[in-house]
Amino acid sequence: MSHVKAHREVLRQKGQFWTPDWLADAMVAYVLERDGQTIFDPAVGAGAFFRAAKRLAAAQGWHVHLAGREIDPAALAQARHSGLTEDDLANTAISNFLNDPPCQQFEAIVANPPYIRHHRLSTELKGQLRRLALERLGFALDGRFGLHNYFLLVALHLLSPGGKLAFVMPADTCEGLSGRRFWAWITAHYCLEAVVVFHHTVSPFPEVDINPVVFLIRKSTPQKDFLWAHCTAEPESLLMWITSDFKERPIGLRVCRRNVQEAVEIGLSRNVARLEPDDNVPFKSLFTVMRGIATGANDFFFLTDDQINQFELPRAFFRLAIGRTRDVTSNSLDDQVIQALQRRNRPTWLLQLDGSPIETLPEALQRYLKLGESLNIHMRPLLAHRTPWYKMETRPPPPFLFAYLGRRNVRFIRNFVQAVPLSSFLCVYPQPNLLQGKIEQLWMLLQQPELLERLSLVGKSYGGGALKVEPRALEKLPVPRSLLNALDLDAAEQMSLF
Ligand SMILES: C[S@@+](CC[C@H](N)C(=O)[O-])C[C@H]1O[C@@H](n2cnc3c(N)ncnc32)[C@H](O)[C@@H]1O
Repeated sequence: MSHVKAHREVLRQKGQFWTPDWLADAMVAYVLERDGQTIFDPAVGAGAFFRAAKRLAAAQGWHVHLAGREIDPAALAQARHSGLTEDDLANTAISNFLNDPPCQQFEAIVANPPYIRHHRLSTELKGQLRRLALERLGFALDGRFGLHNYFLLVALHLLSPGGKLAFVMPADTCEGLSGRRFWAWITAHYCLEAVVVFHHTVSPFPEVDINPVVFLIRKSTPQKDFLWAHCTAEPESLLMWITSDFKERPIGLRVCRRNVQEAVEIGLSRNVARLEPDDNVPFKSLFTVMRGIATGANDFFFLTDDQINQFELPRAFFRLAIGRTRDVTSNSLDDQVIQALQRRNRPTWLLQLDGSPIETLPEALQRYLKLGESLNIHMRPLLAHRTPWYKMETRPPPPFLFAYLGRRNVRFIRNFVQAVPLSSFLCVYPQPNLLQGKIEQLWMLLQQPELLERLSLVGKSYGGGALKVEPRALEKLPVPRSLLNALDLDAAEQMSLF
């Protein structure tokens, strides 16, 4: 691993990504209201918010008290290095905020909580978080819900009446099912004043693969509406907007007032007008979606022509397959694409064995499988649970594939060659009654910009404008009835519903 990669890995483990000054200023400007106030940060790190608080207070001629928690002494050493004094850090305990929150309440809380993916959390910690949610919310949250959400939950509890809180968190906090329930609870108990999202070109964390969202919340009676701002350029405009008490409309910031309940339902990070259910049909009334084949060992099962020849494997046991989304750069998977891949010696053949006992297979295959066993291929995570380990998943070749993860590259692909896709793709099968004679119209439908734009409604957003759309999410994509009418698909869709 290179030095840079190893360094990033350590940062990931600890969730240490520092907030840039321009965002720290804007978030602190929201919570800091008067002279003599205490600002609490549950994850101090190198102290971006403390420095912002001192800057902003000094500009007003105010004094500000600072209090916080930080688990890592090395981060606090960085805070000292960055200009904070022992006095500034006197009320920052080196401890775990979730286990050891302060006993007092605060008027002003600001945080960029640690963003640590769920698979890096221990089973013990996950159990503790589950109990925390049950106790505070009355319901458990999905085990994949990240640590940052629990920071918010505990921090909200520390707000004094009328107090304000500013948190920056990844959009996954509000884009999944758990997110919807979590934010429905928060907005039913607190007043959501504003949400800020960023165009990926002005992301405050360009080096991290997340779509950051700022939440500005007050502990007061919940309101029906809130302000939703999209920062598209000049991120400093955010400070101007917040210090003007949300009155100014600086260049680079698009602001609208939205209904809280509707926005929570759609996902607070997403911006869309409310969709009328009668005007749309779910994707699943037209198509069934399945993920592509997970081989468990592409290097063993997914081969090139040369490899098949080298091991003298019988061709009858292989079927044409497509492995990576970047192997299909256009929206068509045809003979030319396959031939070009084969010329470049990219694998295109999947060893598709059923559960037949090894001794009934041709000798060359027996030798190849035994070679696999000698290399411990059969012990790999997915394969250890298959019986026999070489039995491959099956999929009928789908007429359409879906490349479900990417930056502006999430797209449907027409499969002209009866290939089966591996798990970088989803398989999209028209409902049986639609297959007859409607394929061309369905293909037209899947290329409509109006439909593709809506993928952001159901997908999860990541850094750099990337989107990930899982099978069940794609099945929920709202397809405009107007498109179905225009493409003569409306009658067929109705048939599939009943
Ligand atoms: C994303 S950084 C943000 C730091 C800083 N406030 C900023 O905005 O630049 C999160 C910090 O939380 C710290 N941290 C992680 N787990 C913690 C815990 N359980 N309690 C307190 N701090 C924690 C990490 O060490 C890291 O310094």
